[in-house]
Amino acid sequence: DIQVRSLFREPDKYADQEITVHGWIRTNRGSNKFGFIELNDGTFFKSVQVVYEAEFLNNFEEISKAPIAAALMVKGTFVLTPQAKQPFEIKAKEVVIEADSDSDYPLQKKRHSMEFLREIAHLRPRSNTFSAVFRVRSLAAYAIHKFFQERDFVYVHTPIVTGSDCEGAGEMFRITTLDMENLPKTEDGKIDYSQDFFGKETSLTVSGQLEAETFALAFRNVYTFGPTFRAENSNTARHASEFWMIEPEVAFADLSDNMDLAEDMIKYIIRYVLEHAPEEMEFFGKFMDKGLLERLTALVNAEFARVTYTEAVELLKKSGKKFEYPVEWGIDLQTEHERYLTEEIYKKPVFVTDYPKDIKAFYMRLNDDGKTVAACDLLVPGVGEIIGGSQREERYDVLKSRMDELSLDEKDYWWYMDLRKYGGVKHAGYGLGFERIIMYLTGISNIRDVLPFPRTPKTAEF
Ligand code: 4AD
Ligand code: MG
Repeated sequence: DIQVRSLFREPDKYADQEITVHGWIRTNRGSNKFGFIELNDGTFFKSVQVVYEAEFLNNFEEISKAPIAAALMVKGTFVLTPQAKQPFEIKAKEVVIEADSDSDYPLQKKRHSMEFLREIAHLRPRSNTFSAVFRVRSLAAYAIHKFFQERDFVYVHTPIVTGSDCEGAGEMFRITTLDMENLPKTEDGKIDYSQDFFGKETSLTVSGQLEAETFALAFRNVYTFGPTFRAENSNTARHASEFWMIEPEVAFADLSDNMDLAEDMIKYIIRYVLEHAPEEMEFFGKFMDKGLLERLTALVNAEFARVTYTEAVELLKKSGKKFEYPVEWGIDLQTEHERYLTEEIYKKPVFVTDYPKDIKAFYMRLNDDGKTVAACDLLVPGVGEIIGGSQREERYDVLKSRMDELSLDEKDYWWYMDLRKYGGVKHAGYGLGFERIIMYLTGISNIRDVLPFPRTPKTAEF
């Protein structure tokens, strides 16, 4: 049989041919002589129109009553209809109901709200919008692998279960086999993890970076692409508890090389998706964000801005804009500040570099001023931060004193310290939030709507 995607891509090739398609009914309307079915087969977010007539079908009565969501086999002639609203249709000769549907099917022809669709996560991929979103998500994932593989990066699978907190933010989901009703305790009253399955305290990873560094210092160019977990109880439209992250890590690279790589990657992803999902992207440009295509196309040819944190703070202060959270050197930039910088001041993606060390993680390389670290966050219009990265502290003594400052136990990071002892050359990397780039690509404003099965505080339906 034929995939509906092919009909939309190359209608001329199938003109006047006898074809067979399989799909589900999106709408079915008709009179007692003829009817129209919009049939969606999942290979494309748009549906193909099927025209059926009493004259040609011996089961006309049955088909005219076929409900939304019922699965059909349709045989008929594919005809181009350039004058009509639909560019083509299938004139049915045979229609078979392959699976019926109950009449209380929740998705009807009208436009449903994203909130309503979230409540039926098992059915929402059947809507046009989610069909387009999840196809773009799939293509973007492939583009990312392609980008790194073409550059001979090694894909490393870092562990999901880990004993170290990469970001040091204490936002880990702990996992344990201990009996929760009857937790074993040590003499000093702490939980006795020696009786746990792994014999120590473990959690779901917040980032594969520390492990990726071990591979970067062996393979030079590596990347991870996997799920990460954060028990951060922030109910925003940009935070999920389970999200995917891409983390390249490169030996012999500094902060500037790191930003060059990130910029090339972002442009590559955009170009790939525009080329391979033009219809879906056009759909987003029409229904999600009017300026989307223009913005993305311009961006592929533009140079991203780069500004230090210190300069950015000055710019924000000078802007005269009244922020909810006042700007002072030393604050962690809030979404409102990030968005103002990228949307109002630069009007394009901007890397903010060299943040105060006190608001960044322990592994970032200390700058000569002793106050800032060689960090880079990439901010984009509409979303804010999509990348967080840095050059890593490769100097054993500096790293050690930073860890002491933060009361991190050296014993927990002995292997990470070891990397600094044996050929620990300068290296850098970053983490791209996969959902954040999908939001950026589609104009979808809530992270829940780019995740196939969103996990956020108080929600994990199945
Ligand atoms: O800035 P973050 O916390 O950086 C790291 O985890 C580093 N270890 C990465 C590295 O250098 N290898 O997270 C990186 C990115 C953020 O910029 C954001 O896009 C995304 O991950 N992110 C989230 N996305 C969705 N929900 C959350 N709760 C997220 N937290 C971070
Ligand atoms: Mg960050």
